[in-house]
Amino acid sequence: MLTLVLLLLLKGLCLCIRGAFGASATYNVGGDKGWVVGLVNYTEWAANHTFYTGDSLVFLYEAEVHTVLEVGKSGYEDCSSANAIASYEDGKTSVVLRQAGTHYFICGVAQHCPAGQKLQVVALDAPAPPPNSGPPAFMTAGGLQPSTNLGTSLPSLPLPLSSLLTLGPISYYILLL
Ligand SMILES: *[C@@H]1O[C@H](CO)[C@@H](O)[C@H](O)[C@H]1NC(C)=O
Ligand SMILES: *[C@@H]1O[C@H](CO)[C@@H](O)[C@H](O)[C@H]1NC(C)=O
Repeated sequence: MLTLVLLLLLKGLCLCIRGAFGASATYNVGGDKGWVVGLVNYTEWAANHTFYTGDSLVFLYEAEVHTVLEVGKSGYEDCSSANAIASYEDGKTSVVLRQAGTHYFICGVAQHCPAGQKLQVVALDAPAPPPNSGPPAFMTAGGLQPSTNLGTSLPSLPLPLSSLLTLGPISYYILLL
C-alpha cells in the first residue's frame, strides 16, 4: 500500500517535471514510410498529430533521391524552391518547430512536390508549465504528507525522505534533478 502511494506521488512528480521542462515531442514525418513521393498523404499525416513549438520533425529519406526545403506559403502552394528558407539533403533532417504558426516543407526534386511530397504543419504555442512549478513540498520540507484526496483512507504518514530512496534508481534519479 505504502509503495503504491509512493509510486503515485512519484508519478505526479514526473508529470510536474515534464510540465516544468516543457516536454517536446519528435515526429518522424510520414511515419514508417518517411519522406517519400506517392506513398504518404502528408496532409493526412499532419492532421493525425498536434504539434507544439519545440517539437521536432525528422525527415528520413534517401539523400540522392529527395531533399527537404523549408519554404513559405507560396513556395508550398506553387511547389517552388525559388525562395527557400532552408535546404537540406543529408537524408536525415531534423527541424525544430521554433515558432508558432504554419511551417511549410517541400521536396526540391522535380515533380516530387506536385506529386504530393509536401508538408504543412501548424505549430501551436507549447502549453505553459503548471502555475506551481517549484520543487514539490516534500523535497524542501524533508517530510512526505499524504495528499488530501488520498489521506482519508490512509494511516497518517509522514515519511522520512530516505524512504523514497529505497524505491531505487528512478527516485534517486528524480531527486538528483
Ligand atoms: C492517420 O491515423 C489513422 C488512425 O490511426 C491511420 O489509420 C492513418 O493511416 C493515419 N494516416 C496517416 C497518413 O498517417
Ligand atoms: C490528401 O488528403 C486530403 C484529405 O483527405 C485530400 O484533400 C488531398 O487531395 C489528398 N492529397 C493527395 C495528394 O492525394
